[in-house]
Order: sequence, then structure tokens, then C-alpha cells
Amino acid sequence: MNLFDLTGKKSVVTGGSRGLGRGIAEGLHEAGAEVVIIGSSDEVFTTAEEMNKTGSKVYAVKGDLGDRGQITDIFNQAIGILGTVDILVNNAGIQSLHKSEEFPLDVWDKVLQINLTTTFQLCQLAGKIMLERGSGKIINVASMNCFVTAQKIIAYVASKSAVGQITKALANEWGGRGVNINAIAPGYFDTTLTSFIHQDSEREKLIESRIPMERWGTPNDLKGAAIFLASDASAYVNGIVLPVDGGYLSR
Ligand SMILES: NC(=O)c1ccc[n+]([C@@H]2O[C@H](COP(=O)([O-])OP(=O)(O)OC[C@H]3O[C@@H](n4cnc5c(N)ncnc54)[C@H](O)[C@@H]3O)[C@@H](O)[C@H]2O)c1
Repeated sequence: MNLFDLTGKKSVVTGGSRGLGRGIAEGLHEAGAEVVIIGSSDEVFTTAEEMNKTGSKVYAVKGDLGDRGQITDIFNQAIGILGTVDILVNNAGIQSLHKSEEFPLDVWDKVLQINLTTTFQLCQLAGKIMLERGSGKIINVASMNCFVTAQKIIAYVASKSAVGQITKALANEWGGRGVNINAIAPGYFDTTLTSFIHQDSEREKLIESRIPMERWGTPNDLKGAAIFLASDASAYVNGIVLPVDGGYLSR
């Protein structure tokens, strides 16, 4: 028996068109799962086409997960394609930099909506299906900012630490009903989201000096954690926030 096999599993990965979400979607796909990737641009179609060259089916749904009015419809489109959902990965997220004393509240709302409220709503929507069936796996993508903070990203810090806590709260409520909900807390990964750091050499140096493995992560580095938390290998793992950070938190 292969505890990590996902053959026949139906999965949904938000923000799966690029960056960490693509790495996670590729991991689930390589382990045998069918995948719907959700993204806000046409990139989602290109990514699905590229991934579809091998293995199980990959489908694309385009929609704005920052628009509360669209979320049920976007989720229902994914369910319409797959028939059900066994694995939900809430990965889509955004970042915005402002000094705390000047942080615009409309930007605060936008970051909180996508990173936290949409994540919760999708947990609710998938959770109803999973609870009724008595099985399911939800993986929320949190951040190092569940554990430590950084400057000028207060909305991001608030949203991601809350994602860590709602993950635990949902595991607390749903753990006895067959649903595992865990989070991954990535360290520093080179993606569009973190490209601003390379423009600030002081911040970049400080970060690099804190990574014991002496390199940034790549989307491939998340595959193992995602497959583990999506599979039977993690049957008795519930409510954790798993750092995948090259040792960042240990320094
Ligand atoms: N890169 C890092 O170092 C790092 C570290 C910790 C956590 N994270 C988290 O990982 C997740 C992915 O980030 P990334 O670094 O790959 O960033 P990215 O910008 O490369 O990718 C973000 C993804 O989210 C999707 N997305 C954003 N807004 C959306 C919207 N309104 N509707 C639908 N889709 C939307 C994009 O289409 C894209 O696929 C985020 O939640 C981020 O907070 C990243």
C-alpha cells in the first residue's frame, strides 16, 4: 500500500496557475489526483494545458477570489467539473506593502478578503461536502507570519496568522467527523509575491542570513508537504501549521 497515492482523488487548488500553488498542484497531480486550478487570469488555462500533457486530468477555472459575490459560483464550477472534492488547497493570496501608520483600509480589506475570508468561505463550501461524506483533506497556505512578523505588511501578517488559527479551530470542530484540516507555512520562496524583496538589498540580506539551508525555496519544495497532508500518510495529523522554511524558524 502506498500511503501517499492520490489516484482517483478530486482536488481543487486556488491560485494554482503559478508560484507555490502551481508547485502544489503539480505535486497532487504527480501523486495521481485530478486537479482543478483556480486563478484570476488567463494564465490558469495555459498552466492547465501544460500540466495536462501527462497523467490525470487538470482543469482550469478562471475567477476573482477577491470578489465575495463570485466565490460560490467559482467553487460550484469546480464541483461541476470534478463531481465532488476530496482535497481543497487554499493557496491564492496577495501582499501589499505600506507603513502601518499609513496602511489604507481599503487595501487592508482586500488583503483580508482574499487571504482570510475567501479561505474560510471555501473551507465552508468544501467542508459541507466532506462532512456529509465523512472524509476530506483541507490544506490552507499560511506563512512564516503565523510565527514571526515583518515590517510594512501588517494586513498580510493579520490575515496569515488568522489562517493558522482558523485551521486549528476547524480541525477542532471537524476532526471527529473525518475531515483533516492543516496548514503549510512556507518560508521564503522566490515568486511574484516576494519579488519586491529583491529590490531591498538590506531586507534580502537579513532574510538570507536567517535561512540555515542558505537558499530560498522553490515551488517544488512544497510538493512533499502537500502530498503528505492530502494523503492517507497524514491520517492522524490534524490542526497543524507545518513550516516548510529551510530551517528559518530554528535560527
Ligand atoms: N512566496 C513566498 O515566499 C510565500 C511565503 C509564505 C506564504 N506564501 C503564500 O503562498 C501563496 C501563493 O503565493 P505565491 O508566492 O505563489 O504568489 P504568486 O503571486 O506567484 O501567486 C499567487 C496566486 O494566487 C492567485 N490569486 C491572487 N489573487 C487572486 C484572486 N483575486 N482571484 C483568484 N486567484 C488569485 C494568482 O492567480 C496566483 O496564481 C499565497 O497565499 C502566499 O501568501 C508565499
